[in-house]
Amino acid sequence: MHRAEEIWISIIVGVLILFMVILGYQTFALSMGPPSGMETIDPQKVDQTAPFDKPGIYEIGENEYEVIMTLEVFAFNPSNIEIPVGSEVHFKMTSKDVTHGVQVPGTNINAMVTPGHIQQISHTFTEPGEYLFLCNEYCGVGHQSMYTTIVVK
Ligand code: CUA
Repeated sequence: MHRAEEIWISIIVGVLILFMVILGYQTFALSMGPPSGMETIDPQKVDQTAPFDKPGIYEIGENEYEVIMTLEVFAFNPSNIEIPVGSEVHFKMTSKDVTHGVQVPGTNINAMVTPGHIQQISHTFTEPGEYLFLCNEYCGVGHQSMYTTIVVK
């Protein structure tokens, strides 16, 4: 094999390994991989299935809250969320009918909520204010009115 050929093959293999290492680091160390092994739920029995039989805001630690939320056309339950500034909030959500989405502009909260699956997303609200909490997945004629606010104070 030609010397230049060997050098280029080494560079290409090296770059390939480097990319795989970066990808692996992002996926496993930074948890930036695509969601997998999502928890499932019977969408017909959301109201009877814990924890979704009691939607609400629960304090689970110091400055740590869990929001158990159900989504349906065209509402969020609970819809009036108020949390103290600096709190880490873990949203646990599922849909009772069609596919919805949740997005809080200005944060990393942006997720699809599909019937039959439990979606989880966490965020720490470090700035006080009123945050728009909206459905960003077309879900029917009332889609544009499916929004609420999160009050952080
Ligand atoms: Cu729910 Cu759009």
